[in-house]
Amino acid sequence: QKQSLVLGIETSCDETSAAVVADGTRVLSNVISSQMEVHRRFGGVVPEVASRRHVERITLIIEQALQEAQVELGDLDAIAVTQGPGLVGALLIGVAAGKALSFASGIPLVAVHHIAGHIYANHLVKPLEFPLVSLVVSGGHTELIYMEKHNHFERLGQTRDDAAGEAFDKVARLMNLPYPGGPQIDRLAVEGSISYDLPRAWLEPDSLDFSFSGLKSAVMQLMQKAKQRQEEIRPADLAASFQHAVIDVLVEKSIRAVKKTGVKHLLLAGGVSANSALRVQLSKRCEQEQIDLRIPPLELCTDNAAMIAAAGTFLFYEGKFADLTLNADPGLPL
Ligand code: KG4
Ligand code: ZN
Repeated sequence: QKQSLVLGIETSCDETSAAVVADGTRVLSNVISSQMEVHRRFGGVVPEVASRRHVERITLIIEQALQEAQVELGDLDAIAVTQGPGLVGALLIGVAAGKALSFASGIPLVAVHHIAGHIYANHLVKPLEFPLVSLVVSGGHTELIYMEKHNHFERLGQTRDDAAGEAFDKVARLMNLPYPGGPQIDRLAVEGSISYDLPRAWLEPDSLDFSFSGLKSAVMQLMQKAKQRQEEIRPADLAASFQHAVIDVLVEKSIRAVKKTGVKHLLLAGGVSANSALRVQLSKRCEQEQIDLRIPPLELCTDNAAMIAAAGTFLFYEGKFADLTLNADPGLPL
């Protein structure tokens, strides 16, 4: 049994986070400083503002993560940092911090893909079992990923336009709900019923790709029509109907991906996996189909450094180190 102590650093979007994870499985600390309040008044993340906040916070957050874990810098086996994808100015702060720490201490650096991090959030609950399929749904990504073993990612399908989280956020904006819209729609939908008829983009019969921009437009048209006719839109019902249309496709395509690859394990990952209806619907379907479904606990669904440390641990085990030429890559492929 390999042993390791890894520091994770995550600054890809609007969360400044640092964490210490032992053996890729045990979270000793996971400090998350959210900038949500700062960006809310702009209705979305302002990249320049995010970068500045990361600069202000990063050193303190890393110190706090080490302190809470009762770990000295010298005890670490590796430093794992999110290289991309994300906002380039935001990523740069974490990458610079990771490189500086690595250079000063001589502790090796590993570069983690943000989406790999989201997938490995599940490993913090129970070790991953391969082969597996993961549905990754976040603000920037909607993908079905096949993993044959650690550190190997094969994309089975992806969104052709908006990411699922992006669709939630855009529709919430249309409905005048505060940012971030996903949790707002989730909450509102609980009180609503699925009564508006909205389209689902299934694409070609065997495609595992997604498309959500048509759904967003349909919501817009529905609201415009209602306005013209001076009819009231029932927000809770619209939230429930929209959410259901998204989830329908996410669940169905995930099941198809599992059947196509013949795997036994399905993982949910990314910010949208916090959605309560998605968790319920996918759980139900997987129970019917006898698929082993793994869903991260809520606190590990959204951006955090523990998941980065977990993914980074397996790069460390395989000796896949980064050097001081490492650069942030906003469009990093998985
Ligand atoms: O993974 P994440 O924290 O950041 C990215 O890497 O993008 O995901 C953020 C996304 C946002 O679009 C947010 O609205 C969505 O996840 N989200 C949700 C819920 N909680 C967060 N969407 C639907 N229901 C939720 N409960
Ligand atoms: Zn994320």
